[in-house]
Amino acid sequence: MRKPIIAGNWKMYKDVNEAVELANGIKRSVFDVENVEVVICPPFTDLSDVGEMLTESNVGLGAQNCYWKEEGAFTGEVSPGMLKSVGCGYVIIGHSERRQYFGETDETVKDKIKAAIDSGLIPIMCVGETLEERESGKTMEVVRRQITGGLDGFSEEYLDSLIIAYEPVWAIGTGKTATSQQAQEVHAEIRKLLADLYPDTFAVSRRLLYGGSVKPDNIENLMNEQDIDGGLIGGASLKSEGFTDIIKATSRLYAEKKD
Ligand code: 13P
Repeated sequence: MRKPIIAGNWKMYKDVNEAVELANGIKRSVFDVENVEVVICPPFTDLSDVGEMLTESNVGLGAQNCYWKEEGAFTGEVSPGMLKSVGCGYVIIGHSERRQYFGETDETVKDKIKAAIDSGLIPIMCVGETLEERESGKTMEVVRRQITGGLDGFSEEYLDSLIIAYEPVWAIGTGKTATSQQAQEVHAEIRKLLADLYPDTFAVSRRLLYGGSVKPDNIENLMNEQDIDGGLIGGASLKSEGFTDIIKATSRLYAEKKD
């Protein structure tokens, strides 16, 4: 069975003091959760302090972005190696907000995935369609383009650690979650696409997260779907209580499924 992941994307929220406090709350509440991989992704400026706070805990640390070069004259950018040095194990790549506001393309996503893997970071690659694309029946065309473009030329061995997050843009921060059936439908298609591109074992073992208005009251329905292996949580990851409720519900469901 695929071990579920619950990852919190804090986006541009929390200064360093707030971040350490929130991370501490999460760490304490989930210290005994073993069957869910928990990850938090604070802003760059918080990573070092939060990383220290999470040492020897079962909460992983991730960044929300990285550059694809190790060092150089690239003002304002942060490299995967720098992220590793402050304790990051994961990095979100190609989030729709980065694609929408900062000009990221499938090409830059591919470069960043390569840089992340080369540095030993686990990439959480984001894909998803806008409302307009969904309404014109282009959901899978868009997702297929993002996946084939972002992973172009990589072997399945190379992508061994890859995590994919399906985040329909229209469901992000809107309170409008995709129904669990809508999410499952796309997740199943993504798995099918991966099976076309790579050996079946790669597709079957791949963890596919759903993101977009995930809350404690809808996580169970989502996690009950066959191809949903966890969540990438925005707003609801900014409070320790809501986020840990999501983690605990996931842990409970996973334990029941295993029995
Ligand atoms: P919300 O959970 O706030 O909708 O954000 C989802 C998201 O973009 C996570 O990366």
